[in-house]
Amino acid sequence: MKQIADIEKPEGKLGVLIPGLGGAVSTTFLAGVEAIRRGFALPIGSITQMGTIRLGKRFEYRIPHIKEFVPLTRLEDLSFGGWDIFPQNCYEAASQAGVLKEKHLEQVKSFLEKLRPWPAAFNQSFVKNLNGSHVKPQNSHLDLIEDIKADIDAFGRENSVSRFVMIWCGSTETYLKPAAVHASLRNFEEGLKNNDPEISPSMLYAYAALTSGIPYINGAPNLTVDIPAMEELAEKQGVTIAGKDFKTGQTLMKTILAPGLKARMLGLTGWYSTNLLGNRDGLVLDDEGSFKSKEESKLSALQTILQPDIYPELYGEFHHKVAITYYPPRGDKKEGWDAIDIFGWLGYPMQIKVDFLCRDSILAAPLVLDLVLFTDLAQRVGMTGIQEWLSFYFKNPQCAPNIYAEHDLFIQLMKLKNTLRYLLGEEQITHLGLDYYYAI
Ligand SMILES: NC(=O)c1ccc[n+]([C@@H]2O[C@H](COP(=O)([O-])OP(=O)(O)OC[C@H]3O[C@@H](n4cnc5c(N)ncnc54)[C@H](O)[C@@H]3O)[C@@H](O)[C@H]2O)c1
Repeated sequence: MKQIADIEKPEGKLGVLIPGLGGAVSTTFLAGVEAIRRGFALPIGSITQMGTIRLGKRFEYRIPHIKEFVPLTRLEDLSFGGWDIFPQNCYEAASQAGVLKEKHLEQVKSFLEKLRPWPAAFNQSFVKNLNGSHVKPQNSHLDLIEDIKADIDAFGRENSVSRFVMIWCGSTETYLKPAAVHASLRNFEEGLKNNDPEISPSMLYAYAALTSGIPYINGAPNLTVDIPAMEELAEKQGVTIAGKDFKTGQTLMKTILAPGLKARMLGLTGWYSTNLLGNRDGLVLDDEGSFKSKEESKLSALQTILQPDIYPELYGEFHHKVAITYYPPRGDKKEGWDAIDIFGWLGYPMQIKVDFLCRDSILAAPLVLDLVLFTDLAQRVGMTGIQEWLSFYFKNPQCAPNIYAEHDLFIQLMKLKNTLRYLLGEEQITHLGLDYYYAI
């Protein structure tokens, strides 16, 4: 792995490839980046653009902005392209998604209008509730991969792109259990030849990316690169992978609150979470198979943070329920409602209610930006395979097979910043602080 002296500078254009280009998250991200580039808005929610990092001892007061400390690609150097099953340009798609107000979309209309998705590699058996016509005619896995690669090559040439990242902002695919075809690269490549039905469209995009040396970031709970075959491929190709499922509304709150309860050794008997959601993502998740993918992803955080096996008296028997209700009147303005039953001293019960009236894509867009920039950094530095230091951004972080994932938002942030300090040759911050008081 490279450190400060030999990190390649982010020269030239970074091509950002987005399966799901016309979706709510993608178009909110794209409109936002352009508004920020043109000085209409601030990059609120983005660590790369607004975050700082403390360096050295506290009395040194060295707290630069991350983007000044770390060699990240500038927003001006990002070019965008991608695929969708609907043919609308990104202005039409963003208007339809209804996340941003018309007056904000107008400011960036000419930019969004030029972004038209390429036909998608799509198979409706993986996303039952959507049916789009803007799809590639090929049927075989290998032909679809070739066509995805041809789109990437043409885009790279037309936009003089020097390197790429791919980030999945497409729909949540139906639940897939890891199967034999996912167990090794050899099996997977055999499966591609045989059009194996357990290879999903997102895996075709990922395979096209990784075999072209392009990092892949998984914003949905789909298995995609979270299988041994893809991990093997990423290592073989020396490419970066990260996932999975953006950590935005309810799970963000969960991974803020649960570490606090545990820090104070307060017990938990139940955590009931429900979501009212009316956007296209909500429609997709109204299908049992896609919901199952999301449910698995959402359930994983509490178990790992609270460690019931280590604290059986406090967390041995808590009941955790997650529901998503598709309710069109809400559109993208989700209501994430949590009823939390806790207990304290002598077992006395208490309750916490959280009603987060959030905006799904407003929370997701800055994550897309940070993940694109940090993944590109990781690739330039030579950090290949799974990027666990980016767990901060994911509901269900991908990690090495022999360890458990870290879900606690604050540990994740420390891990992220310590990784940046490490890469830039700065001292790790342990927060011990004794040296301010004693000669040690
Ligand atoms: N918004 C959030 O807070 C959030 C949080 C975590 C994860 N996610 C995930 O991010 C993804 C995008 O969310 P969204 O709200 O933008 O959903 P969306 O439905 O608005 O957008 C998804 C887009 O993907 C397209 N698509 C589906 N299959 C495709 C394929 N095979 N190839 C190319 N395009 C395809 C759809 O046509 C749609 O335009 C979803 O998987 C969602 O679960 C979103």
